[in-house]
Amino acid sequence: MLILGIETSCDETAVAIYEASQHNGKGAILAERIASQIDIHVKFGGVVPEVASRAHLEILPGMVDSVMAEATTAWKNIDAIAVTAGPGLMGALLVGVSYAKAAGMINDIPVIPVHHMEGHLLAPGLSGAGLPPFPFITLLVSGGHTMLVRADAIGQYSIVGQTLDDAAGECFDKSARLLNLPYPGGPEIARLAQHGNPNRFKLPRPLLRRDNTNFSFSGLKTAVVHLVRQNPDWETDAQLKYDIAAGIETAITDILAQKSIQACLKEKVSNLVIAGGVAANQQLRAKLGKLVAQHHITCHLPEIKYCTDNAAMIAFCGSQTARAKKPIVTNWDCRARWPLTQLESGLPDVPA
Ligand code: KG4
Ligand code: ZN
Repeated sequence: MLILGIETSCDETAVAIYEASQHNGKGAILAERIASQIDIHVKFGGVVPEVASRAHLEILPGMVDSVMAEATTAWKNIDAIAVTAGPGLMGALLVGVSYAKAAGMINDIPVIPVHHMEGHLLAPGLSGAGLPPFPFITLLVSGGHTMLVRADAIGQYSIVGQTLDDAAGECFDKSARLLNLPYPGGPEIARLAQHGNPNRFKLPRPLLRRDNTNFSFSGLKTAVVHLVRQNPDWETDAQLKYDIAAGIETAITDILAQKSIQACLKEKVSNLVIAGGVAANQQLRAKLGKLVAQHHITCHLPEIKYCTDNAAMIAFCGSQTARAKKPIVTNWDCRARWPLTQLESGLPDVPA
């Protein structure tokens, strides 16, 4: 089964072709491309939705053609199109979804609407080992989301914990901005932190000692604002800047790692997945690696390139939806907001 995946929910245009085995649900990516719009948005200091939509529109059709060519395939061989239908920027989503629906109609191919966060959550399944056994807990950490999700089956998710305010990615990005670092801030903070002393500045780890699996990053964010203001020499003193970055990265990853373990213990689940852009963070991966071993939990990590936004995870998610024999809805539209817990009921019908 060949699945074309399309992702345009934010500032990355991505296309991939996944070949799924009908037999065991495993498969391989035949070709994939990602074009980041970061260079376009950087001068505005953030993603401009209208600019993002136009950039997707310019690049997507040519990208599909080149991915098809690279996979040496053609529309007649594609069995399904999986496209991100939400959540995300409405205009950006509309580009991918309109393209997918039109291509589906012309070529008589079913179109599977994919939830972007479900795509992230299932991304470890792209590895040779396939999906972890259900149930598993996923730490879902992207630019806009920080949550602990219990997955009981494809499409069947419940929230075990979530942030009460900012997302972890947002905390990285906002802290980076205070230090004059470009977007996305997570990789920038991580790059500086490599040379820093994480113990020089002790930042708060909100809610860490409480017996709950929710997160709060606003107190940490405020502490970073004060720290940067109280140490204005960071602009000239490189070591000071490295130490501040190390303090920030260590605080955020401590919180994420420990809460993930707490969630597994609370739910009595022994498989843990981390997914979303922040899951690319090496310190978080290493910290979790150590902690899971102490608690007899198995940690499943997506490849780094499948942590941040990509179309391979969307194609894979579509293949799993098809494999789970979820009815393919035909009359749907994209949604800027779409709770992960509402997947069982599918996308609401578009009024005729
Ligand atoms: O999942 P993603 O690519 O896009 C969304 O769907 O939001 O996540 C983007 C977030 C940004 O906040 C970015 O700073 C963060 O992921 N990020 C990282 C790293 N790579 C990306 N945070 C920490 N360390 C990284 N290596
Ligand atoms: Zn994402």
